[in-house]
Amino acid sequence: EQYQNIVVERRGRVGLVTLNRPEALNALNTALMNELVDAVTAMDTDPDVGAVVITGSAKAFAAGADIKEMSSNSYMDMYAADWFRRWEDLTRLRIPVVAAVSGFALGGGCELAMMADFIIAGDNAKFGQPEINLGVIPGMGGSQRLTRAVGKAKAMDMVLTGRFMDAEEAERSGLVSRVVPAAEVIEEALKAAEVIASKSKPAAMVAKEVVNAAFEMGLSQGVLFERRVFHSLFATEDQKEGMAAFSEKRQPEFKHR
Ligand code: HXC
Repeated sequence: EQYQNIVVERRGRVGLVTLNRPEALNALNTALMNELVDAVTAMDTDPDVGAVVITGSAKAFAAGADIKEMSSNSYMDMYAADWFRRWEDLTRLRIPVVAAVSGFALGGGCELAMMADFIIAGDNAKFGQPEINLGVIPGMGGSQRLTRAVGKAKAMDMVLTGRFMDAEEAERSGLVSRVVPAAEVIEEALKAAEVIASKSKPAAMVAKEVVNAAFEMGLSQGVLFERRVFHSLFATEDQKEGMAAFSEKRQPEFKHR
């Protein structure tokens, strides 16, 4: 595992990936994308990993897609490479992913954070989709995920003016699940991920899947999908263990299968 743009660590059953291009405020170039997708894809099927935390530096989660890498590209360069396509792989992971955001999460940085299952923000976090200032628009899902997260009014405001949202507004708007002092954001995210990783992995994976289905399905189809998946968990050892532990008034020992 020789990575140049990220640092990959394990903390118990949690995989911690730290974006590591400090000289460019973690601007997301193609090399970083490939390393990040490779690293978390490996964790996705690793039985010893139950959740993933993605974080950046104290100053920047990520200040966007790498503007310098793409600035002179032609339309055909962007189209032929299907620029940003591989980021979509992060949204197909089955393992839960928490983004720990300190400092700037702008453009592709905000979009990467929104690909996680939830975002824990430091009180110094700044979220924005400032692509309009560059003569372009969000290109890694921001117009869709930000709108679903915070609604039309705030999404239009941010995408059209390029203004940043601070952590307090982001929490009030539903973009982030928790705000903590900046110095504690990684610990808080690791703790949340440890809690998730201590649960039944099949249950956690399908829990994420059914919540995500709410963004793709109508209500009655989504509720039916949830019920069918709920039924399926009765095929797992962890359901037997979890319910037995409850009856026996003890902590469950999940086998994650
Ligand atoms: C490439 C970047 C970068 C980026 C920062 N850097 N953001 N390089 N791509 N997105 C580089 C700077 O060029 C600089 O390099 C170094 O990181 C430090 O940044 P500074 O600007 O000197 O820091 P500071 O003055 O503290 O300002 C921080 C900042 C500013 C406000 C976050 O860097 C900024 O506005 N960045 C761009 C934010 C943005 O527009 N993001 C959206 C990108 S487009 P040097 O070598 O000069 O030291 C996107 C979506 C894709 O993400 C859609 C198509 C575009």
